[in-house]
Amino acid sequence: MQWITLLTLALAAPSMAVVRFHCSQLVTQRLDPLVNPGLIPSTHVHQIVGGDSFSATMDAKKDMPGESTCTSCQFSDDFSNYWTAVLYFRAQNGTYKRVPQLGNNQFRTANGGLTVYYMQDAIYDQQQKSKVTAFQPGFRMFIGDILARTLEEAARFRQLTYTCLDTFVTRSPELIAFPKRRCKEGIMTSLRFPTCWDGKNLDSPDHMAHMSYPETGTFESAGPCPATHPVRTAQVMFEVVWDTKPFNDLDWPADGSNPFVWSFGDATGYANHADYVFGWKDDSLQKILDTPCNFSSNCSQSGAKMQSIDAMNRCAQKPVVNEDIDGWLDVLPGGFTSQYGPVSA
Ligand SMILES: *[C@@H]1O[C@H](CO)[C@@H](O)[C@H](O)[C@H]1NC(C)=O
Ligand SMILES: *[C@@H]1O[C@H](CO)[C@@H](O)[C@H](O)[C@H]1NC(C)=O
Ligand SMILES: *[C@@H]1O[C@H](CO)[C@@H](O)[C@H](O)[C@H]1NC(C)=O
Repeated sequence: MQWITLLTLALAAPSMAVVRFHCSQLVTQRLDPLVNPGLIPSTHVHQIVGGDSFSATMDAKKDMPGESTCTSCQFSDDFSNYWTAVLYFRAQNGTYKRVPQLGNNQFRTANGGLTVYYMQDAIYDQQQKSKVTAFQPGFRMFIGDILARTLEEAARFRQLTYTCLDTFVTRSPELIAFPKRRCKEGIMTSLRFPTCWDGKNLDSPDHMAHMSYPETGTFESAGPCPATHPVRTAQVMFEVVWDTKPFNDLDWPADGSNPFVWSFGDATGYANHADYVFGWKDDSLQKILDTPCNFSSNCSQSGAKMQSIDAMNRCAQKPVVNEDIDGWLDVLPGGFTSQYGPVSA
């Protein structure tokens, strides 16, 4: 009898998935199949991770697991693509230099890239009991506003933040604008997507309207999903570590302003944004979310395979856009210069 009781208990146990894993850099270049599909080059430089089926055009019918030969992410079945803009440093002589990325804490040997989370509940909730729905093939979303240059404009996005890394594991405070001081170990950006889906549309014209924040509060405070967007998804979050350390010894603006600027010119930091195109194989993500899987441990119970950081680092693409993005540049690739004030579309 006893084994039956044990088995029943095991099956009834809450799933506990805080899925945290790293993805090495796949490529850094001016492509954006979500916002500028088909445009080569796209408007501004991005750093991209994930499956190597990534290209300028990725419509919802694309078979990302089928067309990829590898992924730069730790879970071998994750052929999704995750991307953000890149940071540049603006020197006192007006030229720009790209800020490289670092592998995150516990992934120091990764070649740049970013860390991805899929959470069932707030990260500090050890129970992670809530049921969340995984995304479907063809699903994609965007969060942020590249035109935001004021706190007011940034405020409608609840959780796109910067952390000034005094140590490599500093995780607070989280700021809405660029830090104004030299950060000893770099700057981390944390980008959290909305968590309520309309249950119907894989995408929307602004790539945001099919998703919503909870009706009240945040995913962390367990706010309910609104009736228009009733399906509670996992909290997708990126952490990106920018290696600003090499720039701390250079001259900074005398007026105390921040010398870093996004690749599309934003020097305030309010236009922090992120892109996601779902590409997990079959139902592998749902299985992971339904399995006790705490950070990277015990995920194998879902059948998920993980690859080594070396294997992740080997999955890389050659840029299709042939331009210098790494020298000391007079203007940012695409022709942008630093913008502090309001911009028009
Ligand atoms: C501009 O400043 C940077 C940083 O000090 C320096 O490396 C670069 O050579 C300078 N460029 C010119 C054209 O002076
Ligand atoms: C989950 O992992 C974290 C970090 O490794 C650890 O601190 C925590 O105790 C784990 N929780 C459970 C329930 O195993
Ligand atoms: C993780 O797996 C180990 C070994 O199988 C087991 O002892 C432990 O209870 C598991 N943890 C969770 C949270 O399921």
